[in-house]
Parts: sequence; structure tokens; C-alpha cells
Amino acid sequence: MNDQIKASDLNAAGHLQIGGVDTLELAQQFGTPLIVYDVAQIRQQIQRFRDVFQEEQVQYEVSYASKAFSSVAIYQVMNQEHAHIDVVSGGELATAQKAGFPMARVSFHGNNKSLAELEMAVEAGVGTIIVDNFHEIDLLKQVLNDHPASHVDVQIRITPGIAAHTNSYIATGQVDSKFGFDLDSGQADEALKQLLAIPAIHVTGIHAHIGSQIFDVQGFEGVAKKLVQVAADWQRQYDFTTHILNVGGGFGIKYSSEDHPIHPEDFVRAIVDMVKKSIHEQKLEMPAIWIEPGRSIVGPAGYTLYTIGSRKNIPGLLPYVSVDGGMGDNIRPALYDAKYETVLAKDPQAPIVENVRLAGKYCESGDILSDHQPLPRTQPGDILVMLDTGAYGYAMASNYNRNPRPAVVFAENGQAHLVIKRESYADLTYLDLDYQQD
Ligand SMILES: Cc1ncc(COP(=O)(O)O)c(C=O)c1O
Repeated sequence: MNDQIKASDLNAAGHLQIGGVDTLELAQQFGTPLIVYDVAQIRQQIQRFRDVFQEEQVQYEVSYASKAFSSVAIYQVMNQEHAHIDVVSGGELATAQKAGFPMARVSFHGNNKSLAELEMAVEAGVGTIIVDNFHEIDLLKQVLNDHPASHVDVQIRITPGIAAHTNSYIATGQVDSKFGFDLDSGQADEALKQLLAIPAIHVTGIHAHIGSQIFDVQGFEGVAKKLVQVAADWQRQYDFTTHILNVGGGFGIKYSSEDHPIHPEDFVRAIVDMVKKSIHEQKLEMPAIWIEPGRSIVGPAGYTLYTIGSRKNIPGLLPYVSVDGGMGDNIRPALYDAKYETVLAKDPQAPIVENVRLAGKYCESGDILSDHQPLPRTQPGDILVMLDTGAYGYAMASNYNRNPRPAVVFAENGQAHLVIKRESYADLTYLDLDYQQD
């Protein structure tokens, strides 16, 4: 059996179930392609990140990086769990507002926030703005001048000069990065001085993010140590006390048997130990530690259900087996050569009989979900479930070829709730206007 599937994931009929709901019934009721989240798994994962902080009696926040999957319903789950959220655009912020998410628990990120987005954030009363560059400081000053009654808490994002062992497409912590203030050239110090001079701004913390899909603790230990070093320098030079050290996200997950991630608890323990040790050495007050997991909260909890369609056999080569979705609902294989595992909904234990190229339905030769996918015997109409698709799948979905985006369902306690409707053809032309020549 696929080692990501446990016996408890099968129901009495031997079908894969998600949140206690039969995947064949989900496909029948909501159609395919369909994205399904196991909500209990999301809640458990948040708690796993919290456990060590609580055990060690460290002040902390777990801020869900909602770029991984943003929707009204996921923000409502985060609110139920009393989590914080990160947003990176006016659109994510508007979605959180629509969800009724408390703005005080929102952090607003981004390397090119617009004046309108910063106005929106200040007017909404967003809890923290993670300031990324000097242009943003100027814009923020302008917004605060126009809103004299407002004040904002900010964290300063630095580039820590640490390259995590990760896919280079998504590494962001190295010096040559579009994100954050550089340390060695003095830009980060200059940013602090400028921000401290603005009365309506309260600098609460220092932030760094070193990359994504990280499998070892060294990068996080390095960033924790670096943040404490910066905090100590700023305490001595500018009499500035940081209340928060934010080590970002990037905790790796298992997509395939090639991936060997460590547990959330082990990441947090390594971070807490290093912050405590460095704070002790630098004789500073212990700050709160914030983390920003995205992928690791929603990735493993997400599944994509596809219906198998056409098959093309080519003598001497791998056959192409096509499904009714592809790069429009999951761009990651085409973009990053990302790997996933699949199981048959009706029999996740079915023996593997062949390797195939698992193709999407989009008019692009590169629309291959997997160029080497082990599959059991399949036939058109079978429901194939791709595992661990909950992060950066729907979030990056497109209408390429004018294919409607799939529906999203939350499953929990044996109940399925539609949380994003499937797009209709009418939705696809909703913004289109006629062009008639006289
Ligand atoms: C600043 C910041 N925080 C958190 C995250 C979340 O990363 P992940 O989804 O890998 O945990 C990202 C992702 O790029 C990020 O840029």
C-alpha cells in the first residue's frame, strides 16, 4: 500500500475516505476535478506547531501563510483555531475581511505593496505590516499622514544571508533576493532608523524567511541565531528592544517517497533552543517567536480527485494516461518539476502494474502532472486521487484554455461542505465585454 495511506483512511468498502467521507461519493456529488481538504488534519497540524512553544512556555504565534491556500472558509478555520494569518495582497486581505477574520491577527507581507494596498491595510486595522523596502516606508508615511488617527505595528524584514537547502526556484533567504533589507550594506539599520523616526509606527519585531520545502533544522537555527544577533546589535546601537523574532515559514512536507521531512515539533524545538541559547549569550530579554507555516499546514491535508479519460499507447515508450485537470489546477509539476503520489479512490491498495506519463487536459505539451507515475490497472472513468495537493495548487489555479477552476470541499467528521463553487462557463465570461465595430 502507498505508505502515505493508513488503514484508517479506508472505509468499510475499501475506498479512500477523507474526513470520514468516501472519495467516490465526493466525486459523484461534486464532480471532478475536485479539491478536498481534511479539516481535522489542518487543525492537528496547527496544534503540532504549538505544542513545543507551549511546553517551553515561550510566547509565540503561529501565523498561517495563506498564500498556500486562501479562501473565506480557510480563514474561518484559522479563526476557529485562534491562529494568525499572513496575507500578501489586497485580494487576500479582502478575502480575510469577507471571512470576518479579526484584522488584529493579520500580517501583511510583500515586496511591492501598492499605496492602495497599504491604505486598505491601515484602514482595516491590520495587526502587523512586514516592511520590506524603502519605497514601502515612504508610502506608509504618506498613508499615515493621510490617516492622522491611525498607527501601525511593523516588523522589519531582513535578508539573513542564509540559503536553505531547498529548490532554488523558491529560495528567498540568500542575499541576492528581491525580499527584505540587506544587512551587510547597512540597509537594515537605515530602515530601522527611518521607522523609529515615524511616531505613528511601532516597530515590534524583526522578520526573516529563508525559503520553502526545507527538510533540516540547520537553516532555521541559522536564521534564529542571526535574528538574535541583529536584535542585540540594534539594542546596543539604537536602544531598540525587539518584542518579536519572526523566523518565517518553509517547513518541508512529504510529497513523495523521495522526501524525508522532519516533524513540526522538531523544527520548533530547534528554533526555540537556538533563540533561548543566543538570547542568553547576548543577555537580552526573551522575545516572542513567530512562525509562518503555509505548505505544512494545508499541503498534506489536501487531495485532488481527477477522472481518468483517454489513453495513448506508444510502442517502446511510456503510455500517456490523461485526467480531466492538470496545469490549471496544479501548476507545480510544470513549474517546479514537483512530484506527487496518486492512489485509486476505489482501491488505494491496488497493486501497481505500470508506469505512465500522467497527462493533464490542457493544450500544452508541458501539461504533464507526472512523467513517471506508477499506476495500478486503470480505465476511463476511474477516480484518481493525487495526494498532498493542498498547498500552492488551487492558490495558483488559472483559467488557461478557458477551463473552469475546480470546486473545493472541506470534509470533517463525516460531513462534506462545499467551500468554493466550481466555476461555470458563465463565470468565465463574467468580465468579458463585447467589441462591435460600427
Ligand atoms: C515570508 C513568507 N512566510 C511564509 C511563507 C510560507 O512558506 P511555506 O508555505 O513553505 O511554509 C512564505 C512562502 O514563500 C513566505 O514568503
